[in-house]
Amino acid sequence: RLEELRERIGQLVRSVPDFPQPGIVFRDLSGVFADADGLQDMASAIIAEVPSEVELIAGLDARGFIVGATVAARLGVGFVPVRKAGKLPPPTRSQTYDLEYGTATFEVRDNAVKAGQRVLIVDDLLATGGTARAAGSLLRQCGAQLLGYSFLVELTGLAGRESLVDDPDAGGVPVH
Ligand code: PRP
Ligand code: ADE
Repeated sequence: RLEELRERIGQLVRSVPDFPQPGIVFRDLSGVFADADGLQDMASAIIAEVPSEVELIAGLDARGFIVGATVAARLGVGFVPVRKAGKLPPPTRSQTYDLEYGTATFEVRDNAVKAGQRVLIVDDLLATGGTARAAGSLLRQCGAQLLGYSFLVELTGLAGRESLVDDPDAGGVPVH
C-alpha cells in the first residue's frame, strides 16, 4: 500500500535542473499539492509512519506548512508554524541554519508548545538536514518532547538523515 502511494506521488514530482542555482536539481512538489488525489496520498504516506502518541505537528516554512497542516488536519491534532525570521510578532525564539543553497533563520512563537508536549516535525523534503536540525533544536528549547521527523522526499546523497540523527541538539529520534 505504501509502495503504491510512493509510486503515485513520485509521478507528480518534477525535477528541475539548475534551480535555484547551477548544480542543484530542484524537486518540485507543487504538482503533488495541486492534485486532489496527490494531496490525500501525500498525507496518507506520512500518516502511515506517524507515531501514534503525536499531539502537535510542527511544519517548516514554507512548503512544510502545506504538508504539515494537511497531515495535522487529517490526524485531528494542532499545528505550529516554524517561520522564517521577521514574520512572527514577539516573543519568539530563533535559530540560524545552513541549507543546500544558502542560509536562513527560523523563529517560533515562544509559548507555541506546552512543556513536554509530543511534537512531530513535518517538512516536504530532507536535503542536507540543516533546516530540520534547526527546527528540532528550536522546538526542544521551547519544551517540546520531540517524537521525530517526517518528510515526503529524502535526497539520500546529501546524508541529511545521518546529520539529523546524530545531532546533539536535534537528534536521537526517528526520521521517517
Ligand atoms: C527547502 C525544503 C526544506 C529545506 C531542505 O526549503 O522545503 O525545508 O529546503 O533543505 P536542507 O535539508 O538542506 O536544510 P527552503 O528553505 O527552500 O524554503 P521554502 O519551503 O520556503 O521554499
Ligand atoms: N531544498 C533543498 N534542496 C532541495 C532540492 N534539491 N529540491 C527541492 N527543495 C530543496
